[in-house]
Parts: sequence; structure tokens; C-alpha cells
Amino acid sequence: MVGYVVYGRGSFNQLEEIIEPHRKKGAPVIFLADHFFNSHPLINRIPVDGKDKIIFADVTYEPKTTYVDQLAQELKEEFGTVSGVVGIGGGSTMDLAKAVSLMMNNPGSSADYQGWDLVKFPGVYKVGIPTLSGTGAEVSRTTVLTGPTKKLGMNSDFTPFDQIILDPELTADAPANQRFYTGMDCYIHCIESLTGTYLNEFSKSYGEKALQLCRDVFVKKDSWDAESDDKLMMASYAGGMSIAYSQVGVAHAVSYGLSYLLGTKHGIGNCIVMNHLEEYYPEGVKEFKYMVEKNKIVIPTGITKGLSDSDFEKMINVSMGMKPLWENALGPDWEKIMTRESLHILFEKL
Ligand SMILES: NC(=O)c1ccc[n+]([C@@H]2O[C@H](COP(=O)([O-])OP(=O)(O)OC[C@H]3O[C@@H](n4cnc5c(N)ncnc54)[C@H](O)[C@@H]3O)[C@@H](O)[C@H]2O)c1
Ligand SMILES: [Fe+2]
Repeated sequence: MVGYVVYGRGSFNQLEEIIEPHRKKGAPVIFLADHFFNSHPLINRIPVDGKDKIIFADVTYEPKTTYVDQLAQELKEEFGTVSGVVGIGGGSTMDLAKAVSLMMNNPGSSADYQGWDLVKFPGVYKVGIPTLSGTGAEVSRTTVLTGPTKKLGMNSDFTPFDQIILDPELTADAPANQRFYTGMDCYIHCIESLTGTYLNEFSKSYGEKALQLCRDVFVKKDSWDAESDDKLMMASYAGGMSIAYSQVGVAHAVSYGLSYLLGTKHGIGNCIVMNHLEEYYPEGVKEFKYMVEKNKIVIPTGITKGLSDSDFEKMINVSMGMKPLWENALGPDWEKIMTRESLHILFEKL
């Protein structure tokens, strides 16, 4: 779990005092900020000191192992070691910050650690500051990376942040579409966790709270305001806590395949898949469609049209590889229910 959590409007201002005790002599703090914030006033509020460096994370594409390796290598060459890495941004930037922190202290390539419990050593001190709410990356024990052969996280006990700062003011500028897609990531986490076979009281307690908060903002409220930002940030946190002790399910397993082949982003990819999952999550999908309509969002369709058989094979391979997700969704006999043929049909619908 994350060691320290600060929540509240304006809590970003505590960053300086929070990182101060973790500064090591001669080793800078690296602020990895989402490139959206390049020339945004938030940059002037980052407590840069001495050799500290702000790096703008290019999140045009979701994080790749090659990008993580490159960032870590450059920091090692420039500074030897660093006091810490502070990730400021959406799920992509937070995942990059977690992965770079780990790769400062682990040999080889981040691709070597894509899987479960492969990371050998703790990373450098790491802080996560979300500027979009929904992924739960701020609390999860994984960092999702696209590598040479798979899209899979570095899942380990060393992966969670040491500290997070949850300041809902930082999400205020997010465009409505992006906010919805990332928010739906949280909603889908809840549905997949709460209907999954891995469910337990821990996951249920957090999942139910997160679901209620998602409904407050996307179903009950008629316009977006500061309270919506406050609630969605806590929904993301609780949704992340819920899947920490359970798993995600069909929407994620399928959307990982899409993302691997087509580069479809996580939030929108989950929405594209969720739109066609009535068979697996009847109530969740019904409510999802209501929220899409109410919030006037367009979910793309026909994105797998014209793909070759070998493209479908690639997506099916990636998706089928997510065994724990399928087992959570469909139980221990999942392979009898979700065959390659039925998955092919599902991909064709997207
Ligand atoms: N580690 C985990 O547990 C976990 C869980 C779910 C998703 N993820 C990962 O999270 C990523 C998706 O994250 P996301 O949905 O937060 O989006 P994102 O981080 O990919 O960002 C999406 C876009 O929003 C912009 N942006 C960020 N903050 C903004 C703000 N405040 N205002 C305006 N624009 C802003 C970014 O520059 C980017 O263009 C994927 O890479 C996914 O794999 C990780
Ligand atoms: Fe997700």
C-alpha cells in the first residue's frame, strides 16, 4: 500500500515540506510532469531546489518500456542517483514515475519485470500527484507498460508510491471527454471488482464506495463543479483500493488487446469494450450507456473493421494472456467460456 496520503484542495502546496526529509545530499528530486503542464502555472508551484529537474513526460502514447528505460538511463548518467521521483499527471505519467523510480535501482530493462513479483529491489522514493481521476494508478501495485512482446504491468510490492498527494484542484482543467473516459475506468474497475469471483469484504467495501461516488458525479449531478472533482478523486482512490485486493475483468482484458495492437488509450478503450459487454455485466453496461448519453459523450465504434486475421490473432493473444482477469470475471473454468472463437467475435463487434 501507499505509505502516506494527503488529500484536500490546495494540498499540492505541501509538496515542499513533504519531500524535504527525503532529500539526500547531492542527489536531486526529479519532477516528472505530464507535458500538458508545460507552460501551465502549476509548473511555477513546483518546489525546485538545487540540482532538481523538471522533465515533461511525453504521454502522446501510453508508457512504453523503452521510454522508461531511456528516462532512467539518462538520470543515471546525469546524476548517478536521485533522491526521488515525483510524478505529476494522469495515469500515464504516474505509471512512468513509478517505473522510472524502480528502474533507478533494478538492473536490465523494465521489460524484464513485466509480470507478477519480478521486481528485485525497492525503487527510489516516489510521490504520485494525479491530475486526472479514475485510473487508481495512484494507489495500485502496478505500472502498466507496453513492452516488446506484451502490455503488462510491473506488479510488485515495491511498485506503490511512498506518498501521494490528492488535490482535486489539479483536475479542474481536464476536458470533459477525457474526464469521462478516465472516470469510466474507475466505474469499470468497480463493476469488474464487485461482480468478480475474487471479491472479498476488503474489495467490496472500497468498490461499493467508489461506485456510489461515480454515480454521484456521472448519474445524479447535472453539471460539473468542484464537488465533482472532489468526489471523483476519492472514487479513483477507493476504486484502486478495491482492485488491489481483487482484479479487473472482461473490459480490461479485451481493451489491453486493443491497446497493444492499435494503441487505443486505456480509458476510451475500456469504454469501447464496455459498450458491448451486456452478456457479462448486464446492469453495469445499462448504467454505463445511460451515463454516456447523459454526459453527451461519443463512444467510437467500428475500430476493428478491416483488420487482418493476424491482427485479430495478436489482440486475442494479448487478451488471453491476462489469465487472472479472466479467472476473476468468469471463474476457474473461464477457458471453457471464453474461447478464442468467442473472443474473436467480441473483437469484431468493436
Ligand atoms: N497503474 C495502474 O494501476 C493503472 C490503472 C489504470 C490505468 N493505468 C494507466 O493509466 C493510463 C491512462 O491514464 P489517464 O486516463 O489518466 O490518462 P493519461 O495519463 O494517458 O492522460 C490523457 C491525456 O490527458 C492529459 N491530461 C492529464 N492531466 C490533465 C489535466 N489536468 N487537464 C487536461 N489534460 C490533462 C494528458 O496530457 C493526456 O493527453 C494508461 O497508460 C493506463 O495503462 C494504470
Ligand atoms: Fe483500468
